[in-house]
Amino acid sequence: MKILSIETSCDDTGIAILETKGGEKNLTFKVLAEGISSQIKIHAEYGGVFPALAKREHIKNLPILLNKVLKKGKLKSLEGINLIAVTYGPGLEPALWTGIVFAKELAKKCNVPLMPVNHMEGHILSVFGKNKGEFKIPKTNFPILSLLVSGGHTELVLAKDWMKYKVIGETLDDAAGEAFDKVARMLGLPYPGGPEISRLAELGRTLLLQQSPAFTLPRPMMYSKNFDFSFSGLKTAVLYLIRKIGTLDEEIKMKIALEFENAVVETLIHKTKKALTLHKAGTLIVAGGVSANKYLRKEIMKLKKDNPKLEILFPEKKLSTDNAIMIGIVSYLKYIKNNKKVPNPAKIKAVGNLSL
Ligand code: KG4
Ligand code: ZN
Repeated sequence: MKILSIETSCDDTGIAILETKGGEKNLTFKVLAEGISSQIKIHAEYGGVFPALAKREHIKNLPILLNKVLKKGKLKSLEGINLIAVTYGPGLEPALWTGIVFAKELAKKCNVPLMPVNHMEGHILSVFGKNKGEFKIPKTNFPILSLLVSGGHTELVLAKDWMKYKVIGETLDDAAGEAFDKVARMLGLPYPGGPEISRLAELGRTLLLQQSPAFTLPRPMMYSKNFDFSFSGLKTAVLYLIRKIGTLDEEIKMKIALEFENAVVETLIHKTKKALTLHKAGTLIVAGGVSANKYLRKEIMKLKKDNPKLEILFPEKKLSTDNAIMIGIVSYLKYIKNNKKVPNPAKIKAVGNLSL
């Protein structure tokens, strides 16, 4: 069957067409076409995502992107599409609604079922996706622990099976990606700040190899008994540090970026390691925009030292940030698991704070 999937939860408009085969034990996908229309340049001026602008841009981009994706997939029309999938949360509600309204119209026009998808489940399953060609969902060792780190979320999720999730820890304030973006802004770096901080920190790691850190930043909640996180205090500590230093030159910026990245990664690793041990997870999935971070990936891989059988999965770089391929994957899994039942489209609405 052919699935058309739509993602508009934040500042990326994504549409994909996937061809699917196989039953629950042998789910196979082929990307027929996909496209992303990024609003980064528009939001960069504000140093973050501006919901009303995101909504306007999604409305403008959705029909244009749909035509582009159909052309890429050499499809003349929506004929042959058997299922439409759309993100219904979590995310910015005005942005989510644009995708939902568009998807409802298409589903009605094509007379096909509409499957609502949780964006975070999309990030989890994104590790199996490919940007091009064919891929499968292989047999996976449960329980799976997922560390989801994005601009809006930081959570540890335990899955006993697909679609059976339990959030065992989450951020009490800012998300990891949000902290990267805010600290980048304090350092005068462009939005989104994650890749910029990462670039500076990597440079610092190479140049300052043997030196002890110029200053230390806190690792909030690192030793708390639960699996929750907090990044707001770390962000404030950077602010006070910058005020104390006064003028920032390139070297100081590099040192701050390095110590900040170390603090975030150390905290994430510490809690993930603890959760892996307690829940005897067979697989670790690390996904969401921040999972593109080079240092985080390197440190996560070190967890294999204590646990050589642990399977560690990251998404392809292109699928670590928001995309519609991951939404298509989840929709088919849900469709099969729910015996091809979908909810009444009239009942599908945007849920900004949807949890897993
Ligand atoms: O998953 P995503 O595309 O959107 C949300 O669902 O939020 O994540 C975007 C976030 C941004 O905060 C961005 O700064 C961060 O991911 N990010 C990174 C890196 N690449 C993107 N953070 C740290 N290091 C990176 N290399
Ligand atoms: Zn996301």
